[in-house]
Amino acid sequence: MRIGVLTGGGDAPGLNPAIAGVVERASIDGIEVVGLKRGWQALSIRENDHHIVKLGPEIIREWSRLGGSKLQCSRTNPVKEDNDRTDLVKENMKKWGLDALIAIGGEDTLGAAEVLNARGVPVIGIPKTIDRDLAGTEYTLGYDTALNVICESAERVAHTAESHETIFFLEVMGRHAGWLALRGGESAFADVILIPEYPFSVHKLISVLKERQRENEHLGFEHRYKIIVVAEGSHIEGEEAVRRDSKLDEFGHYSLGGVGDYLKGLLEHEFKHTRYTALAYLQRGAPPTQRDRQIGRRFGHAAVELVKNGKFGHMVGVQKSKLTVVPLREVRKSPRLVDVDKLYDRERLNVKIENPLLEG
Ligand code: F6P
Repeated sequence: MRIGVLTGGGDAPGLNPAIAGVVERASIDGIEVVGLKRGWQALSIRENDHHIVKLGPEIIREWSRLGGSKLQCSRTNPVKEDNDRTDLVKENMKKWGLDALIAIGGEDTLGAAEVLNARGVPVIGIPKTIDRDLAGTEYTLGYDTALNVICESAERVAHTAESHETIFFLEVMGRHAGWLALRGGESAFADVILIPEYPFSVHKLISVLKERQRENEHLGFEHRYKIIVVAEGSHIEGEEAVRRDSKLDEFGHYSLGGVGDYLKGLLEHEFKHTRYTALAYLQRGAPPTQRDRQIGRRFGHAAVELVKNGKFGHMVGVQKSKLTVVPLREVRKSPRLVDVDKLYDRERLNVKIENPLLEG
């Protein structure tokens, strides 16, 4: 038996441990694994000799600790309406002797996997995205590492913000979902957290910051800097999220980014010093944390088990801290967003701290 493994969409720490897990489990059972480079691209083109690599047990130790994807990623959509390559994917599978595929990706990569599976391509999914917004699983590879980077970076930003008595916008990723901002901001004791799920007003933002200042003074300390953790998809009510450029990817998404800079500009007349920095790709490139290595490896093993049992059209995942298996069509449901009523304090533009510790 021969399995092809691919990583699609944006990279996330945990991809390499998952590939290592696939190879580890497959080697024990004498199953061959080949890496398909650049997501769905390897199977969507004809000249693909340089896109296919044999993966043996020798990669396991090294790959298991590396960030990014040693197989590279792309946002190729093999089932794009005006450029459908399903037949070519099937032809390529035959050409390379592939009996099954393991696709590691988010909503787009696994959405395409689901469509292909329904058309007779045997696929298993492994969920990844630092945003942790995929339906059907409580965990997606990369989230924990990105969260740790945010937490550490917020501390660094706080030192410079304190020294210059600045209102500091720290922009983090999160296109539709504010999990990274919410939990990263919470851990960093941010003064304000802005998430895509709750469009806010500039007036409110200014009044919350001033109120925080009064609270600090009342408590008897002069805390003359403020940290605002802002998700890239957050936006002012009535406005759209700020786009980085006007390009659309193959799945129809714009790249977001710059909302922190935009808000910094809007607040400049109210506060003396405002600053902005975006963590952008620094969140994605870190070496995977223990959690992303462990879950990546387990996901890899579980995916090979599913291939062996012929349970195609499914994705491994986590529910209530347990490894689960769900139909791939789950990923096409609405993304897993922050429940604003439960978890977000609209008055303080911050996390609700009275809710159960780990909810969401
Ligand atoms: O989906 C994960 C993610 O990290 C989003 O938070 C972000 O909007 C997107 O990828 C950016 O990816 P890229 O710039 O690589 O297209």
